Amino acid sequence: MISGYKLIEIPSFIDERGGLSFVECGQLLPFAVRRVYWLYDFKKARGGHAHKKLQQFIFCTHGNIDILLDNGRDHNCITLNSPNQGLYIYEPLWREMSRFENDPQLVVLASNLYQEEDYINSYEDFKQWKSHS
Ligand code: TYD
Repeated sequence: MISGYKLIEIPSFIDERGGLSFVECGQLLPFAVRRVYWLYDFKKARGGHAHKKLQQFIFCTHGNIDILLDNGRDHNCITLNSPNQGLYIYEPLWREMSRFENDPQLVVLASNLYQEEDYINSYEDFKQWKSHS
């Protein structure tokens, strides 16, 4: 079991009309959202990087997807398969997304704007960076 992430239940109202889920910054999420992006039409594994500072809250509004999280020594695999559950990543972890089923749609709420310099794109570099940080 590694640390640096948390699965969070997303408040939801589900009735005969359907479902509605919501996220409030400062309530459910301990960071201010500065960027939202979404991933869809998955064809091949994605991710394959770590972030030095970025915090993210990731949820799957449709379908299911596996997310591998690795701290440079150990790893866990999380399945996101419900619009009512999100993955909060608050420490630098290597991540890879795979096993896409039922046309997953992934939404990512991020604590900062896109910054190329926040990315570590090689697993070996990530392990080195972790050992020095
Ligand atoms: P990339 O980080 O490779 O996606 P993933 O790791 O999820 O597979 O992003 C693909 C491209 O999109 C890359 O050129 C950077 C760009 N991009 C932005 O311009 N803004 C963003 O917010 C994100 C997430 C990516």
